[in-house]
Amino acid sequence: MIQGVPQPAFYIFKCQQSAPPGMPKPSCVSQNDPESQQLFQHLAQSLMMKGIIGTVQPIQTGCLNRCQQGPVMLVEPGHTMYVGLTKEKIDRIVDEHIIGGNVVQEYVIPEEMWGEPVTPASMAK
Ligand code: FES
Repeated sequence: MIQGVPQPAFYIFKCQQSAPPGMPKPSCVSQNDPESQQLFQHLAQSLMMKGIIGTVQPIQTGCLNRCQQGPVMLVEPGHTMYVGLTKEKIDRIVDEHIIGGNVVQEYVIPEEMWGEPVTPASMAK
């Protein structure tokens, strides 16, 4: 049997959008909040330290359109949007969701902010 290259088990999309200083618009990486600037690195480091980087791929993205709930990150597969992140919350998400297989419900975006998706088929022209 040919052994292929395994696909990742998870992609974690961390919003790295930052607004310029003085901008009223909220953003996931803020000049006024040093912890918000360290979250991606913290995520990548903890995946590395646990030996699961590679099968779990952290990806830096631009705005995911939930800025008011920031800092946010999206876990795929599962379409799980985590909000209000801190280092501590990221640690729990890695341990309980990524390794343990249980979504950390208390950090998931409120349902009214994350309604059912509109299918592209119903919108396509
Ligand atoms: S800036 Fe992160 S969701 Fe918009």
